Amino acid sequence: MSEQIQVAPSPERYAPSPAPPVLQPDAGYLGYDRSLLRPMSLGQKLRAVMKYVWVRLKGGPMSVNMEVTYLCNATCDFCDYWKVKRSGKLGDYDYVEALRKLNPLTVTLTGGEPMINKQLPEAVRRIKDSLGFVYIGMVTHGSLLTVEKAMALWDAGLGHISISLNYIGREHDEERGIEGLYEHITTLVPQLTARGVNVIFNTVIMRENLDHVVPIAHLARSMGAKVSYSCYSDYKNGNETHLVDPGHEDQLESVIEDLIYQKSRLGNIVNSAWYLRRIPDYFRDALPQSCTAAGKWLVQLTPDGDVKPCAELPVLSGYADFKRVSKKIDCNRCWYSCRGETESSLKPGRLLEGLVRAIRSSA
Ligand SMILES: C[S@@+](CC[C@H](N)C(=O)[O-])C[C@H]1O[C@@H](n2cnc3c(N)ncnc32)[C@H](O)[C@@H]1O
Ligand code: SF4
Ligand code: SF4
Repeated sequence: MSEQIQVAPSPERYAPSPAPPVLQPDAGYLGYDRSLLRPMSLGQKLRAVMKYVWVRLKGGPMSVNMEVTYLCNATCDFCDYWKVKRSGKLGDYDYVEALRKLNPLTVTLTGGEPMINKQLPEAVRRIKDSLGFVYIGMVTHGSLLTVEKAMALWDAGLGHISISLNYIGREHDEERGIEGLYEHITTLVPQLTARGVNVIFNTVIMRENLDHVVPIAHLARSMGAKVSYSCYSDYKNGNETHLVDPGHEDQLESVIEDLIYQKSRLGNIVNSAWYLRRIPDYFRDALPQSCTAAGKWLVQLTPDGDVKPCAELPVLSGYADFKRVSKKIDCNRCWYSCRGETESSLKPGRLLEGLVRAIRSSA
């Protein structure tokens, strides 16, 4: 691992938090918001449902992963963003016009490391003011996040902050090449949830962290946070070492079984059971059908304003010339949650589940 980077101390404009909302696993989850989304009024939910139906009818995209910088200050061995030495930040193209043209239901701010971009609160405001209903989230490794910066994003209208967390303890620092990162995250998250911020751990399931997968759901729950699981892919930079190999299949099966059980018990696992059940098939290279999400329901917007079908595939076109990919792409190289959940949410049963949840949580 290369030189260790320190996390920045958190400047505090906001007063130290009151007690964080510590939620014990057995305390039941009545009143605990189990959905991925920031709580919404009934009016907002109705607008969300109408937008969903409209995006379905127009044929996508449902979700845009918007890369707000190419840069990253971590050194993960499964992703090459941090090796890229090029500029590229919001403002080089008209991102509001690009998002108006794509007009998705959800936008996820990503990178590189999105928190390197200092314009994000303004960007969140501008996007929300210009697009009708749109739900905006962000995924970050968290080292540059402070209470103050998170609250500025939350106040601007961000719907959730996803913080990557693959291990409990120092192994997470080693994976990211950022000294003190785990401690920083676990100190910060209870302060955010105590202020009402919707925090979701983003946990990639891989060979080395199988023992950490279920404990992360408990940790999240104890901090009033949620967790979303995704699967390791070697497509980012060809590093196959973290794929779950046949020797770990039985362990993976029991982890998934436990996750599905914990999903109803803890109430903070945001993946659908549909998605979780297919994880062992993905690692066995036995998904029953190839990708229907990329380029149609899901697209990636680069910091230069180009559109890719997904994070891993080459550029299709500039945003102004974007045309949806109308056929399935013959690819099963990932089972990222953004692909899997997009495909899952298109199933009528899942849609119904989402609607029932929305109605219940507005009661
Ligand atoms: C590309 S990163 C960008 C945001 C930020 N730098 C971070 O790591 O949170 C988005 C998400 O992809 C995950 N990721 C990166 N490389 C991956 C890989 N090879 N397979 C699966 N997920 C990966 C990260 O852990 C993170 O949760
Ligand atoms: S996964 Fe995120 S933190 Fe790690 S190198 Fe890639 S962009 Fe950076
Ligand atoms: S399966 Fe789909 S989303 Fe994943 S890498 Fe292939 S085309 Fe992209």
